[in-house]
Amino acid sequence: EQSRQIDQILSEFRLTTEQLLEVKKRMRTEIQNGLSKSTQDSATVKMLPTFVESTPDGSENGDFLALDLGGTNFRVLMVKIRSGKKRTVEMHNKIYAIPLEVMQGTGEELFDHIVQCISDFLDYMGMKNARLPLGFTFSFPCRQTKLDAGILVTWTKGFKATDCEGEDVVGLLREAIKRREEFEMDVVAIVNDTVGTMMTCAYEEPTCEVGLIAGTGSNACYMEEMRNIEMMEGDEGRMCVNMEWGAFGDNGCLDDIRTEYDRSVDDFSLNPGKQRYEKMCSGMYLGEIVRNILIDMTKKGFLFRGQISETLKTRGIFETKFLSQIESDRLALLQVRSILQRLGLDITCDDSIIVKEVCGTVSRRAAQLCGAGMAAVVDKIRENRGLDHLDITVGVDGTLYKLHPHFSRIMQQTVDELAPKCNVNFLLSEDGSGKGAALITAVGCRLRKELN
Ligand code: BG6
Ligand code: GLC
Repeated sequence: EQSRQIDQILSEFRLTTEQLLEVKKRMRTEIQNGLSKSTQDSATVKMLPTFVESTPDGSENGDFLALDLGGTNFRVLMVKIRSGKKRTVEMHNKIYAIPLEVMQGTGEELFDHIVQCISDFLDYMGMKNARLPLGFTFSFPCRQTKLDAGILVTWTKGFKATDCEGEDVVGLLREAIKRREEFEMDVVAIVNDTVGTMMTCAYEEPTCEVGLIAGTGSNACYMEEMRNIEMMEGDEGRMCVNMEWGAFGDNGCLDDIRTEYDRSVDDFSLNPGKQRYEKMCSGMYLGEIVRNILIDMTKKGFLFRGQISETLKTRGIFETKFLSQIESDRLALLQVRSILQRLGLDITCDDSIIVKEVCGTVSRRAAQLCGAGMAAVVDKIRENRGLDHLDITVGVDGTLYKLHPHFSRIMQQTVDELAPKCNVNFLLSEDGSGKGAALITAVGCRLRKELN
């Protein structure tokens, strides 16, 4: 009887192929809303133009600085790109912490901190006087009017610094550099992490025309036909569009598959009502869904002898890396139990079986939902090109994709099943998005020179 009730709780998370096809279809509708003039203002999936009009061709050259802000780690990088027969890319980087009080303090504090880290990095590299061109990977939704201007639409994930939304983030960075009066910098491009990832992968694999992040957050970009991007003038060629698909569902269109646990995670988040799809798919929230289910099961007496411990009440205890460990097939149940004990949960072996099943169910749904979104994207690209069959590469990054033992496989299976006319090859980005940001900066510099 108990196992039947547990199964009933989890059954809501088990999506049928019909439901996933429905998700794919709705994503396709939202893509269309984001691209069309008459609907884009109220669209949830914003389909933001990036002013990146081509993938790398190997002619990119020069020395660049890159920032990578918005994922698990904040990095400052130096990227040396050499064109020619023997193309090479050399990278140096340093990771810096962004304390919680800076992520959620004032905008001035946040950008002063970023500039402080750049200063430290320049000292470390011994190049304070270089005045290098800089590419800024900024992994949040930005409305761009050109390559080097982007107005922050809204913070997402764990950031909530004041006085930034509605502002040009490049301007905020330039002002902070001025305030410090210590070095100069030429900010050339602002880049979403999906776009940086696509470019990093496309440098090695020219068929890569889609970027995907399955990490702290969830998002995708792809090369869309200019004629379909109605907010942009011009019908020739293509432009990369940052979909901001994390906000899919914010108009209620996924409410029939959201569970009470999804609603509770949303209610207690930094941005209630927003990024609903992201909250079902990405690393920052999966552990929270699991925790909410475990609390409910404990209340019903199925777990932890009915005792809700302080640990279980603590938000954020199940990070992606723990979920990944718990679900690893190589671990014996005893080891699962010891992981949970180390988290401070007093747990029996029977409990471990249930916890592992809960984790598996929640992460499977995440991979399937992400796959359904991707199926909509690749089918759109295929139709754009009037093809019966499309071969395409998706550049991917993010801790969920990299660390989780099953996520990548389940996502791939889902895309294969839901988009049978596409052959989708997922390519892991080994070098992060900083390399891609540098490649975009290289093109930006060249275009500037040509204009002058
Ligand atoms: C990194 C990229 O490798 O992955 C970042 O360089 C990106 O730009 C990040 O934001 C996404 O993964 P996560 O899990 O750190 O959010
Ligand atoms: C969030 C951000 C988006 C980013 C994604 C992955 O969804 O809004 O810009 O690409 O996280 O980091």
